[in-house]
Amino acid sequence: MRIEYGLALAENLADGKVNTKALKGLVPELEEAQNWLEALGKNGTVGFMDLPFQEITPLLDMGNHIRSQFRHFLLIGIGGSALGAETLAHTLWHIRPCDMPAFHVLDNVDPVKTREVLGRLDPRETCFCVVSKSGSTAESMANFLVILEWLKDAVGEDGARERVIFITDPYKGGLRDLAKEEGYCALAIPPNVGGRFSVLSAVGLLPAVVLGLNVEGLLRGASLALRVCRTRGLDSNPAWIIAGLHYLHCTLGKKGISVMMAYHERLTTFVDWYRQLWAESLGKGGKGQTPVKAVGAVDQHSQIQLYNEGPKDKIITFLRVESFSSDIEIPSLYPDKPALAYLGGHSLGELMNKELVGTASALAKRGVPSVTISMPQVDELNLGALFMVYEMATALTGHLYGINPFDQPGVEEGKRLTYGLMGRPGFEDKGKEAREIWEKNEKAVFALSLEE
Ligand code: PA5
Repeated sequence: MRIEYGLALAENLADGKVNTKALKGLVPELEEAQNWLEALGKNGTVGFMDLPFQEITPLLDMGNHIRSQFRHFLLIGIGGSALGAETLAHTLWHIRPCDMPAFHVLDNVDPVKTREVLGRLDPRETCFCVVSKSGSTAESMANFLVILEWLKDAVGEDGARERVIFITDPYKGGLRDLAKEEGYCALAIPPNVGGRFSVLSAVGLLPAVVLGLNVEGLLRGASLALRVCRTRGLDSNPAWIIAGLHYLHCTLGKKGISVMMAYHERLTTFVDWYRQLWAESLGKGGKGQTPVKAVGAVDQHSQIQLYNEGPKDKIITFLRVESFSSDIEIPSLYPDKPALAYLGGHSLGELMNKELVGTASALAKRGVPSVTISMPQVDELNLGALFMVYEMATALTGHLYGINPFDQPGVEEGKRLTYGLMGRPGFEDKGKEAREIWEKNEKAVFALSLEE
């Protein structure tokens, strides 16, 4: 994997404040951030760095059992409890053996979607995996209840128990209690691993095993990346480069938006995962960058005009693969037509990657910084490494900002207000508060009548 970042440095751009000197000047802060993170790892406060070394035999056994018994695997979870598994399933789709169970995700509580997903499933042939660290997130619990009733109606109480698995906190929370009281099978998320850092725990690994992915390869990629992300120096540590550049561009260069643009359709779900990691970890105390998802080359015809000539408030990360798992040669059908002839003999993959170079160069001419992450191919090893590099970079960036990247008080408050609105005991005040705020919204209303 390569990280090319010359076009994020002012000396190679039309203008900008973040140059090599500024990046090198940040080394003492990066060193301090690294010490802080390592100390949190050592004292057990932060656990994601331990995940590459976990014992996976029980996960493999359970995943293989599910695979042999079911034709469908439905994951019920949201945010960090769904995005990692979705990324694995979508990004590595081309590697999955074709006789694996079909993978479905229910994250939202849009009733139309829930009904539509259930309509596609045969309850007898489906394993239902409910993922929630807290065991109380309203969306996941609501979908679980809907499914449980539907499932019990179809296969009975015991049949439902055989088809439902929880992945949750090992000691506490609503799902853990239910597992103990009613005998549901439940895997553990280590207490010191937060949702958005949990992809390499059972949260991502169980679905990966069920889908026939090489979990050892994934963890090996993560452990190799972790090894370099533990070194000290801009020449050796990719997380320092990503953290340092984004932090400097945000603070010195006033680039409050971090666009990640994937020039590979399969990597677009990695961008969804990154979006949550970057936003939820770093957006606090008035700090942070807004992560934006873009897809190359499609968004060249939608977003790039703005990135080039709009406000200079963005740093772009391009993701690309050096070799596509299957490429297509463009035929030379019209040698006399200049608009078509030059394409003949090249490949779609080559065009994709050259579009990236053209786009990055056009942005550089306007002083828009970019970093390009190149992977040799999309596979478990590279994806595992990419997860770890970004988790490390995010944690370090949090320390540079002086915030805690591992909590999410802003999410929790929204959850509490919703609990209150939905009548959860103990949250009555929160419900009242939300209603009072919402009433203010109704003080200014415009009603558009569509009657003739
Ligand atoms: O990263 C996080 O902590 C959050 O996005 C959570 O994953 C999300 O809110 C779901 O929480 P839970 O796993 O407790 O249901």
